[in-house]
Amino acid sequence: MEQYIIKGGKPLMGEVTISGYKNAALGIIAAAIMTDETVKIDNVPDISDIDMLLKVIEELGAKVDRIGKNKVKINASKISTVTADTESVRKIRGSYYLVGALLGRFKKAQIALPGGCNIGSRPIDRHIKGFEALGAEVKIEHGLICANTDKLIGTSIYFDESSVGATINVMLAACLAEGQTIIENAAKEPHVVDVANFLNSMGANIKGTGTDVIRIKGVPKLKGSEYSIIPDQIEAGTFMFAAAASKGDVLIKNVIPKHLEAFTAKLLEVGVRVEEYDDAIRVTTDTRPGSTHVKTLAYPGFLTDMQPLMTTLLSLSTGTSIVTESIFENRFKFVDELTKMGASIKVVESNTAIITGVERLTGAIVSASDLRGGAALVLAGIMAEGYTIVENVEYIERGYEDFEYKMQKLGATMAKVNSNDTKAIRKFKLKVS
Ligand code: EPZ
Repeated sequence: MEQYIIKGGKPLMGEVTISGYKNAALGIIAAAIMTDETVKIDNVPDISDIDMLLKVIEELGAKVDRIGKNKVKINASKISTVTADTESVRKIRGSYYLVGALLGRFKKAQIALPGGCNIGSRPIDRHIKGFEALGAEVKIEHGLICANTDKLIGTSIYFDESSVGATINVMLAACLAEGQTIIENAAKEPHVVDVANFLNSMGANIKGTGTDVIRIKGVPKLKGSEYSIIPDQIEAGTFMFAAAASKGDVLIKNVIPKHLEAFTAKLLEVGVRVEEYDDAIRVTTDTRPGSTHVKTLAYPGFLTDMQPLMTTLLSLSTGTSIVTESIFENRFKFVDELTKMGASIKVVESNTAIITGVERLTGAIVSASDLRGGAALVLAGIMAEGYTIVENVEYIERGYEDFEYKMQKLGATMAKVNSNDTKAIRKFKLKVS
């Protein structure tokens, strides 16, 4: 097992460049199999969730060529099956987009129920409701989502609560339905817009993404395209909070500042300086943050994915803060680990953290149990005095490209070592002491 070893206490300084957005890339790669022509996608993050999805579409019969670290060419003219039931499918969340993509193109799909981070119960009833409204018969059988129809017919679909996954999945299928589909109370997240822009570049007719109402006029066929994925707003947010937590000065490049507004607003509120440029953002501070209250909401509210990073930053604040998680019920699991480092956090009614800021955190052995909670523990390690070991880094590598390398470039004293390699751990400690 790999782990990060971190010697904390140094401010992060310098520049970091943000990679392509994981959650957009998952939808876009699934969409790429909706045409028999070649698609080239740029700014694809080099992370394990993407490797797994590419492997799954290869297993379906698509030809996948990695033509660079962040560029991939996909040709799905020889898809030979609509069934995917391998370990890779079951491990990632984004594999559910294959249901929408295959249902759109072939009018049938059999995809294993998705996995993803264990952050709460993650039902897919809204996806199913959407496919059924388009005319598909959908059953869960032997652990597979089985969807089937002769034809998809455009219709009006109202989601009583917004869902990123269901909005993207229904949008995929509806592109190749007959007639117009209207999705009401659609998710407005930037990756919904990015997947729609990609589909439109393939000849789809989607309007209104980024608002509550998306209108999709079905087309008979999609074509090849070249497309570049938007920067990852959560990776950008992670480095913004890391800069603030370490009392550093970091210029975060290749970002869309509009997508970061909720994070910027909270950082300003706790006294951190944030400067916005056209495609970069600079975060700097030399004092402990003030306290605040935060509630996670769908975009443009404060994203649930950033909650663990915000909670970690506030653990060092000068007052008492309250963070309420309203999207996923299990997103405070990392808090037990954080308290091993001296944080004073009480989680009440499983969705509210009361954080009493402490003056310092101290290094400890902690374990990641999901992607963003894991990243938050790395942040804590960077802020803490002494050595921190973060176990289970495979969770973090699911969603952050070259994480330790980017942190090292900003001056963080950290390395990735095998947990059995006591020699490497000793060497690291000797080198940095
Ligand atoms: C996406 O998950 C992201 N994953 C998550 O990012 C992110 O936390 C989440 O959106 C919220 O922004 C991907 O894009 C692959 P939802 P998704 O459908 O689509 C409930 C990360 O760290 N719901 O918007 O699964 C659901 O339980 C990951 O990068 C239903 O009840 O989220 C949740 O409470 C973790 N029924 C809420 O809706 C459904 O059919 C929002 O979920 C669907 C969702």
